[in-house]
Amino acid sequence: MSQYLPGLEGVPATRSNISDLDGKRGILTYRGYRIADLARYSTFEETAMLLLDGKLPSREELAEFDRQLRENRRVKYNLREIMKYLPATGHPMQMLQASIAALSMFYPGDECLTGSDLCEDLEYVHTMSVKILARMATLVAMWEHIRNGYDPVEPRKDLGYAENLLYMFNGEDPDPLYARILDACLILHAEHTINASTFAALVAGSTLTNPFLVIAAAIGTLAGPLHGGANQKVVQMLREIGSPDRAEAWLEEQLRHKRKIWGFGHREYKVKDPRAIILQDMMMDLMKERGGEVTPLFEIAVALEKAAESRLGPKGVYPNVDFYSGLLYLQMGIPEDQFTSIFAVARCAGWLAHWREQLKDNRIFRPTQVYTGEAERDYVPIDQR
Ligand code: COA
Repeated sequence: MSQYLPGLEGVPATRSNISDLDGKRGILTYRGYRIADLARYSTFEETAMLLLDGKLPSREELAEFDRQLRENRRVKYNLREIMKYLPATGHPMQMLQASIAALSMFYPGDECLTGSDLCEDLEYVHTMSVKILARMATLVAMWEHIRNGYDPVEPRKDLGYAENLLYMFNGEDPDPLYARILDACLILHAEHTINASTFAALVAGSTLTNPFLVIAAAIGTLAGPLHGGANQKVVQMLREIGSPDRAEAWLEEQLRHKRKIWGFGHREYKVKDPRAIILQDMMMDLMKERGGEVTPLFEIAVALEKAAESRLGPKGVYPNVDFYSGLLYLQMGIPEDQFTSIFAVARCAGWLAHWREQLKDNRIFRPTQVYTGEAERDYVPIDQR
């Protein structure tokens, strides 16, 4: 009998050269570059190129890719009409999955994905990567207006990716500091080895389905609270705690009932997630820059992390990427239920990189199981049961 490992813990699902992590030392690299360096020196556009193409681009290559992204931000009005008929109370991640899946009907051509000769498909693969990555931000920001009964804000070509995302959300010229923070957040969330949503993308991609549907599969998977949905839960949890002095007692109560502490724990990291360290530092920098305007929820988060160290630290459970990210988004005026959508926008770069890598050496995913049901038996007619 094959050995069953729940959650496929430790089971390699693919060979990949896109990103790597060391869960004991708390190190994450994209194509070998440390994420702290990318967050500080790169842009989301450049990091997306690094993930997609495997190398840091030249100035000219980056300018061309950036131009393509800017040209591809708009979506057809039919899609806006579809979005208007979705329930305003639906979760933005549900809207995002439905809309990106609907976009597959606007961009046919996937019959070139035959699995035989990728060279013929390279242009399609690149064009679709640009179309998807550019439109993800548009869809997320459009929904913010449509669900509130307004026409969406048109994207602007004179702004960078993060700047334009903020602009489309708020309809105002983006605050340069917030735009730079959002850019770094997008970089930090862009890729993370074979997590659940990337695995979903790989499985979907291995069937040679349309790339918009690959991303739709990944979005649906990211939406869950055990994955990307945790960032929204964290802020709800911090509100529930209410003040830093209540953090310890609240934590004890949760652990007594064996409840999850949102934004803590990770299958791969047994130390504090390196992304959480950078995001927390960014929050501190923002506090220095903006003084008292910063949310008091940050102080509660710091108190909770301190209280959790002795209780969860021995199990290797520390803050993950979702613990501090939502607080930064909150400062930028992004609504809580859109935090996971921002994660999806960023992670789309990684999903696409893995889709492309999968296509180069594809074999359909078809795992096996450990059967635990009845042995073969005779059918019982209904009047004899
Ligand atoms: N709160 C409380 N305890 C936690 C915990 C959390 N957030 N995460 C892990 N643990 C504990 C488990 O209860 C378990 O304890 P036990 O050995 O005494 O039973 C131990 O740590 C191992 O956890 P396990 O559930 O086996 O880890 P996993 O690898 O299957 O799950 C996560 C990983 C991320 C799903 C899990 O840590 C979690 O649910 N975290 C909260 C959701 C979250 O923040 N997700 C975002 C991830 S980036």
